[in-house]
Amino acid sequence: MHATVATLTSILFLAVSVTAQQTAGTTTTTWDCCEPACGYTSNLSPGATGPVKSCNQNNGVASAGAQNACFTQGGGAFSCQTYQPIIVNSTLSYGFAGHGNTATSSCCKCYQFTWTSGAGVGKSMIVQAINAGGITDTDFDIYTPGGGVGDYNACTAQYGAPAGGWGRQYGGVTSDAECSQLPSNLQAGCHWRWQWAGGDVNEWQITYEQVNCPSQLTSVSGCIPAAI
Ligand SMILES: *[C@@H]1O[C@H](CO)[C@@H](O)[C@H](O)[C@H]1NC(C)=O
Repeated sequence: MHATVATLTSILFLAVSVTAQQTAGTTTTTWDCCEPACGYTSNLSPGATGPVKSCNQNNGVASAGAQNACFTQGGGAFSCQTYQPIIVNSTLSYGFAGHGNTATSSCCKCYQFTWTSGAGVGKSMIVQAINAGGITDTDFDIYTPGGGVGDYNACTAQYGAPAGGWGRQYGGVTSDAECSQLPSNLQAGCHWRWQWAGGDVNEWQITYEQVNCPSQLTSVSGCIPAAI
């Protein structure tokens, strides 16, 4: 009888530890041109060294003390063009995302997800969280130009985008052809969604887990999270 309980307990433990590895979630898209939330040292997750870089209007280094262009009229801190997705091969891309309802829970952590629905089924991304947000706590709001300016639009100030942004306010452009509306330095990251992921990306299902960050991401963001 004791052996049976022990066996059941170890089976339950195994089931819990396997399912705890991968969490179900979703993906959405963003490109609001704002200084990311992880650009504030006070928002970093425990043990992270940062903050993430923010840029001036021309994608140079933002000056010290520059205010977030999304919250201060004339503010000089924006997103950097280097936060566009990076294609590794046909099934893996690196990138940056908003993730988690609070910045301090996620800032600078990296996650690997695999799409389980949508045209990108089977493809994966390794993303670093540089912002909070997304539609739920398990969403990844992928930085891709033309991904939607969302609640706070600094793309009009940075690039002269239309007041509601390029395409939909949430989700952005609706086809690869609409990427032609964007400035030339953001086009590759706009085409990434349609040509590499294979479609809109918004509300596609995923499973994900936290991973250690590749240096290709931390060297761009300038932020290194605590090792897992
Ligand atoms: C893509 O790159 C990853 C990481 O190096 C590798 O594990 C995977 O096998 C590659 N996939 C293809 C299709 O080359």
